Amino acid sequence: MSKLFESIKIKNEVIKNRAWVSPMCTYSSIDGMANDWHLVHLGSRAMGGSGLVMMEATAVSPEGRISPWDMGLWNDKQIEPMKKITKFISECGSTPAIQLAHAGRKASTNRPWLGGGNVSKNEGGWDPVGPSNIPYSNKSLIPKELKLVEIEKIIDDFVLSAKRSVEAGFKVIELHFAHGYLVHEFLSPISNNREDKFGGNFENRILLATTIASKVIDAIGNTIPVFARLSVTEYYPGEGWDLESSIKLSKKLKSIGIDLIDCSSGANYSEQKIEIKPGYQVGFSKEIRNQAEILTGAVGLITESTQAEEILESNGADAIFMAREYLRNPYWALHAEQNKDSWPLQYQRSIDL
Ligand SMILES: Cc1cc2nc3c(=O)[nH]c(=O)nc-3n(C[C@H](O)[C@H](O)[C@H](O)COP(=O)(O)O)c2cc1C
Repeated sequence: MSKLFESIKIKNEVIKNRAWVSPMCTYSSIDGMANDWHLVHLGSRAMGGSGLVMMEATAVSPEGRISPWDMGLWNDKQIEPMKKITKFISECGSTPAIQLAHAGRKASTNRPWLGGGNVSKNEGGWDPVGPSNIPYSNKSLIPKELKLVEIEKIIDDFVLSAKRSVEAGFKVIELHFAHGYLVHEFLSPISNNREDKFGGNFENRILLATTIASKVIDAIGNTIPVFARLSVTEYYPGEGWDLESSIKLSKKLKSIGIDLIDCSSGANYSEQKIEIKPGYQVGFSKEIRNQAEILTGAVGLITESTQAEEILESNGADAIFMAREYLRNPYWALHAEQNKDSWPLQYQRSIDL
């Protein structure tokens, strides 16, 4: 019996299998709007049999974008083009999900294929913000330290974008608390040296994450699953954000009503050293799942169906997120399942497996 192709019910949503498309920025929006690129990019992965297809990191405000070409949901005009995408994904029998994000001190950068780096103001860039004025690396811009009233506005921006996500037809919302973006910056003592209620001890540093989570859940009700993506460790060889901190935060997020922790790692410490190998983050997922007793998703160099099955069988995760393998093969899930009945009706009589 395949675990990968077993459905899973989370709150009101039944997700048809556990082979899920991880969020991937494509830097292809103008003014944060979805367009035909996103419809075909995400739609083809839904046609390809993935149980859940997640929209890329979607900024809750213009300053929360990684680049001027990021997806956004900071105004109502951005809802309509997303509806076309969620409708198509749903018609394929897949679950449309969205990742809501604020890039914090890593905002205002160029498209990767133009070399990355900072975008200047006269090229459409802006001043990045963060918990403290500590830059990510010696090449990064120095972020402006957020005032309390600005933090309150960011919390509201997450809530408003979550409501717009529901209106746009998304059935799962993921809060991006990972990869050295704003919320992760607050979590970590290496990027947060505030002296107010959002800085200092563990309880204060997690306050932004827990407030966003609880206000989003209050605003959208208790039927739509809400996930949180964490960098389970930031590989800092001192008092950084680590597995133990993530377990404590996951327990707290569970008590607030977060349904699943999407277990990633890194990207807040520019000198990080990671041993990249197949399934290199699965151990984090297993620990969070066991110790915080919450559903988890594993991600990171998972490419083979036997590998994915083994992770699920050994209780390493409840679902598998994949990114680059889905870029190589949008039909990965259909090939992995080896069941002709799962293919689109339009194709079934013409293919042999
Ligand atoms: C092109 C690209 C864009 C990405 N954009 C995002 C993103 O928007 N949000 C996010 O949390 N992770 C993002 N990631 C990380 C992936 O979701 C995933 O965690 C990572 O690539 C490891 O999975 P993989 O080995 O299956 O690619 C991105 C990765 C790639 C390759």
